[in-house]
Amino acid sequence: MIQESTLPGGIAVLALDRQKALNALSFEQLRNLDLAVERVSASAARGLVITGAGSKAFCAGADIPELVGRTLRDEHEGARLGQEVFQRISQLRIPSVAVIHGYAFGGGLELALACTFRVATPAARMGLPEVKLGLIPGYGGTQRLPRLVGEGRALELILSGRTVKADEAERIGLVNQIAEEGEPAAIGAAYLAPMLQHGLHALDFARQAVQRGMQTSLELGLRIERDLSTLAYRSADAAEGMQAFLEKRPPCFKDA
Ligand code: HXC
Repeated sequence: MIQESTLPGGIAVLALDRQKALNALSFEQLRNLDLAVERVSASAARGLVITGAGSKAFCAGADIPELVGRTLRDEHEGARLGQEVFQRISQLRIPSVAVIHGYAFGGGLELALACTFRVATPAARMGLPEVKLGLIPGYGGTQRLPRLVGEGRALELILSGRTVKADEAERIGLVNQIAEEGEPAAIGAAYLAPMLQHGLHALDFARQAVQRGMQTSLELGLRIERDLSTLAYRSADAAEGMQAFLEKRPPCFKDA
């Protein structure tokens, strides 16, 4: 199951909860996550924290017993479902942060990679160990990891399958920040808070410009930036932000 809650300031929290299997992602759990993300998307939430219930794991990856004995067709469908759910998370118009406390392996780390940001606690351990099972990452890891940490580091991590500790993860840019040990939802909310002072349109257009630009040439990326910055310029929040500057007062953004 997925625990769903909302914190003050409209921050939605989704906690994977299958603690007996270290929050591993069964097919059913992937579908639960998909539905929960859809509910967040349709709600008035302004930010999203994804984490794992319990103290031991964010998520230990795809459910390994369930992978055994799947037909090739099942497996292809499984990868497609995982990729679709994680793609939906990465394209949410609100910022999302994965709070990684404990283990994040395989599909679990791929889920964190689909979020806009990653925060780890000092005890976090993460990696893409699929090659140890004779597999390769199938929920976006081979694509998102190199975009985040560069091709050389991504290949080294994926081909060795080794475990990365929180301090190395921060050093190579795999996680944005290391937080003190604490309650994951509160850690995520504190990380998002400074960004959520701004209007959602500006946050969404900026995220889109960066992410869409990373998938294309510089020339096309500049064009995407031009179009999105024009859209931002036309928003009511931009009028308010610039007027507030002139009047030497804090802006009052309305996500409009
Ligand atoms: C199902 C899992 C699981 C998983 C752990 N468990 N990982 N169940 N799927 N991915 C279960 C264990 O079987 C065990 O159940 C319980 O959780 C506790 O795990 P332990 O191994 O006893 O804990 P510990 O010794 O602390 O080791 C933690 C661990 C280890 C290092 C995280 O569990 C581990 O290496 N797990 C596998 C991680 C992994 O390889 N993930 C990638 C999966 S492939 P019992 O009933 O015995 O107590 C993947 C591919 C995605 O994600 C793409 C596919 C298309």
